[in-house]
Amino acid sequence: MARLSVNVDHVATIRQARRSQEPDPVTAASLAELGGADGITIHLREDRRHIQDRDAIILRKTIKTKLNLEMAATQEMLKIALELQPDMATLVPEKRQELTTEGGLDIRAARDSLKKFIGTLKEAGIMVNLFIDPEPEQVKAGHRMDVSGVEIHTGRYCDAKNEAMRDGELKRIYNTALLASKLGMAVHAGHGLDYYNIKKVAEIKEIEEFAIGFSIIARSVFVGVEKAVREMKELIR
Ligand code: PXP
Repeated sequence: MARLSVNVDHVATIRQARRSQEPDPVTAASLAELGGADGITIHLREDRRHIQDRDAIILRKTIKTKLNLEMAATQEMLKIALELQPDMATLVPEKRQELTTEGGLDIRAARDSLKKFIGTLKEAGIMVNLFIDPEPEQVKAGHRMDVSGVEIHTGRYCDAKNEAMRDGELKRIYNTALLASKLGMAVHAGHGLDYYNIKKVAEIKEIEEFAIGFSIIARSVFVGVEKAVREMKELIR
């Protein structure tokens, strides 16, 4: 059964709306673990719109599962990651104007600087995944850079307007996952997954881990974090 890493950024988004102390993503992470989360994901963005440095530091000390830090490949974030020592770093593209991470990294375009960046993180004992669109070419480029694995962007699958488009996107995700798995890379997936669209991707056995945030936190408002996580775990199973 694939693992579930729960992204708690959205709890911090609510807190930051009032620059308040609550709700605390640290509390949400503990409850997510009680509900069976296998890991906690946070995205420390350059503009600190949701997760704050303080959240990352406390989560590193308090969670009992694995910490996945989503980060842009910048020198500021590299320094923070080396100090924080997350279990895994997922490198994502970051644009200030976007509502959320809108696309995968174009690895082919960023090759040399990225390779050095990845090497520094790996030398510090941090697993490095690249967030990529479901395109086999991106897997091959990532493999040449010696990354630990990829996280496949499932956004287009989730946003598909009709069945035919959804099936097409699912096939792309499957082919990308298959190639990454054959190359011995870790295969993760995420973005836009919810209680309705998870089932078909969860059938792709090459995917070892899902990173899911928004749908779980949205459901938590009504049923609580623990139950919302448990229900998602059940669907993945
Ligand atoms: N994976 C990555 C790389 C992301 O940037 C995000 C969004 O922060 C997610 C997974 C989770 O997406 P969602 O909140 O839509 O479940």
